[in-house]
Amino acid sequence: MALRHFLTLMDLSPAELETLMQRAIQLKAEHKARKTSVQFPNHVLGMVFEKASTRTRISFEAGMAHLGGHAIFLSPRDTQLGRGEPVEDSGRVISSMCDIIMVRTFEHSIIERFAAYSSVPVINALTDDHHPCQLLADIQTFIEHRGSIKGKQVAWIGDGNNMCQSYIHAAMQFDFTLKVACPEGFEPRADIVAKAGGRVEIFREPADAARGSDLLVTDVWASMGQEEEKTERRRELAGYQINSALMAHANPDALYMHCLPAKRGEEISAELMDNPKTVIWDEAENRLHAQKALMEFLLLEARA
Ligand code: CP
Ligand code: NVA
Repeated sequence: MALRHFLTLMDLSPAELETLMQRAIQLKAEHKARKTSVQFPNHVLGMVFEKASTRTRISFEAGMAHLGGHAIFLSPRDTQLGRGEPVEDSGRVISSMCDIIMVRTFEHSIIERFAAYSSVPVINALTDDHHPCQLLADIQTFIEHRGSIKGKQVAWIGDGNNMCQSYIHAAMQFDFTLKVACPEGFEPRADIVAKAGGRVEIFREPADAARGSDLLVTDVWASMGQEEEKTERRRELAGYQINSALMAHANPDALYMHCLPAKRGEEISAELMDNPKTVIWDEAENRLHAQKALMEFLLLEARA
């Protein structure tokens, strides 16, 4: 069978994603009961990070430890990748010694090239275009708090970035509609929107996207790699904040999420961030459980 990677949410079928979500919920319960089974002793996860991370690193590293394996953190400061060794050569070599690899990098084409030369499954741990692992955690969180997301309405408020583009894929795969509110020039990629058909609509007014929504989601206005555009982005995106005034347009039991790290007072109000009822902290924790389910799925597929 062909090697399976997870470079975007489109790499798994809707049925596989649904099963993965149920497994993540089960693994979470097992973890809480301290009953995680050590399924992958002697397995090694290679973790290639070309950008910073708190949640992704900890969730993958802890997750692999729970499964009985080991993880190796590889930063460009310490590897030859950082000194210009070709991505293709790195993919070939790292995969010859690891059982599974996650990569966080810049252009999406870098992870595609890496995966093309890898002999083991490769997981996208964030690129400039996609952040599919975060979507697994977000959907798991929605299911835990509100049940199935199928047929629901989700509003994306702010920059049409990597997270927004993964939300478009999620709308297609988990069967919900997505309303994106962003200023002109900050839209998600037109080809990604086009593939989603009528499921995704772009608005200028945050309230128009929020109206009738079951979930509101946002993310930082300047993503990693856009540090120099920070001031201009702050100016352009002002007004695209998730706060209680915006939540008032959504359904009464609507949730709001943020993948973190967040900037209180920019894309999300401090009041919502610090609301004791927020599910944002569950969303962060679910990275661990969802990615354990993902690693298990890919490792078992690679064995088949
Ligand atoms: N949400 C997320 O991916 O966080 P980190 O950048 O801390 O990994
Ligand atoms: N859009 C953000 C997400 C961080 C987890 C970034 O790419 O920096």
